Amino acid sequence: MKFSTLVLAAGEGTRMKSERPKVVHEMLGLPLVQWVVRAARKAGSAEVLTVVGYAREQVIPLVEDTLIVVQEEQLGTGHVIMVAREQLEELAAAGKADSLVVLNGDSPLISSQTIASLVNLQQLRQAAVCVLTQVAEDPSGYGRIVRDEAGNVVGIVEEKDASPAEKKIRECNSGAYSFDLRALLSCLDKLNAANAQGEYYLTDVLGILAQEGQRIIAHIAEDASETWGINSRLQLAQATKYMQQRINETFMMEGVTMLDPTLVLIGPDVKLENDIEILPMTILYGQTRIGKACKLGPNTRITSCKIGSGCTIDESVLIDSMLEDDVNVGPRAYLRPGTVMKQGSKAGTHVEIKKSTIGAHSKVPHLSYIGDATLGEGVNIGAGTITCNYDGMKKYPTLIGDKVFVGSDVMLVAPVKVGSGALIGAGSVISKDVPADSLAIERNDQRIVEGWAIRHFNKYSESSQE
Ligand code: UD1
Ligand code: CA
Repeated sequence: MKFSTLVLAAGEGTRMKSERPKVVHEMLGLPLVQWVVRAARKAGSAEVLTVVGYAREQVIPLVEDTLIVVQEEQLGTGHVIMVAREQLEELAAAGKADSLVVLNGDSPLISSQTIASLVNLQQLRQAAVCVLTQVAEDPSGYGRIVRDEAGNVVGIVEEKDASPAEKKIRECNSGAYSFDLRALLSCLDKLNAANAQGEYYLTDVLGILAQEGQRIIAHIAEDASETWGINSRLQLAQATKYMQQRINETFMMEGVTMLDPTLVLIGPDVKLENDIEILPMTILYGQTRIGKACKLGPNTRITSCKIGSGCTIDESVLIDSMLEDDVNVGPRAYLRPGTVMKQGSKAGTHVEIKKSTIGAHSKVPHLSYIGDATLGEGVNIGAGTITCNYDGMKKYPTLIGDKVFVGSDVMLVAPVKVGSGALIGAGSVISKDVPADSLAIERNDQRIVEGWAIRHFNKYSESSQE
């Protein structure tokens, strides 16, 4: 039996004290709402609908792979279902949603396993709804699960509407549910906003269904952290810490060394092979893949890079770049999008490379900028060499053949080509193509004036005596 998922992401999240809506804030490099959407997909959701409202122009681009439902005014979690009604009816008719899972867009720790077990329990036990609950030390702020003497769930009461006795209940509503979709739709007309907050509560659906004699079940989360909602920056930090630990422990079990895993941040899409060593203050985000026995860090940030095995990346920033095996980067290199470092190549200290290919065993060891360039194999770039790729309006390419030797402090004024095996003298400004195997040198002849320095300094000491 199929299920679809509705993710609630229309709220503002005032306690974040932010110009941005809450669900776009990131945890380990991924916006909160995307964690939730992914968990739903991984659990096998046929469709995912995202309800957006507040500052939706910022939320929609993050959930473009889902069906968007716009809730103009946030009149409550139950109102969300009213707004989505038509789409939900279509999904039901298309056989994509016997059940509807509802998740909060600000609860990124929920796992796909928990979502799947909510649906399974609800469907197997033919319940109208299965709600995910947690038993909290301090339940304040949450809706409470109300049970009858026999222990059956008969409803949920929001804290602001709860009696003193109900406030003592420690079993809380996590805000995640699997509903029998038809049962849910059938009681929408019975919802009203006659409560302390003047909102249409989704939680009231449970009481309505219970009164109709339908089965309501609660599934107590095995790991209560999965139910955490993020309302403040403090909670964002706590959730990040939790997920960081979970991810890092998994990698350590798979053969990755982190001497201090609290100082390593790894995003959910990163793939690491074994025998990698990650030193402190290293951040790996985006779609990053790293091969065996690489040494990363300290102080390194790698975003969406594909890195082969045996590479060393020391104190560097790498973005959208591709490294083959045995590449050496840093300390303090900056590889910007479109950099390709072939086997055994090197980008050394204070080197910036953008949209360029560095051929196998080629070296850019010190103080260089290489942009829009293609270097062949075995090239040596002298310290301080710069590709002048930009004339203020357009970018131009630099092509350097195999085994070219570029002396120190050379300016390569693009567009320019240097043929294989050529040598460029230090300090040259190269603005014309250099043929293969030739010497190019662009430098004034050196002048020697014998004795000049003695005369200069004598004059200086005479004048200082006056
Ligand atoms: C809700 C539950 C409460 C539960 C808690 C768990 C209700 C009435 N209460 O309370 O029982 O313990 O979650 O975290 O459901 N939203 C919309 N549109 C709206 C209103 C809310 O999209 O009109 C979104 C919010 O952005 C948020 C989520 O729904 O992501 C929950 O809404 P919120 O008002 O924070 O509910 P709580 O008061 O936390
Ligand atoms: Ca509320």
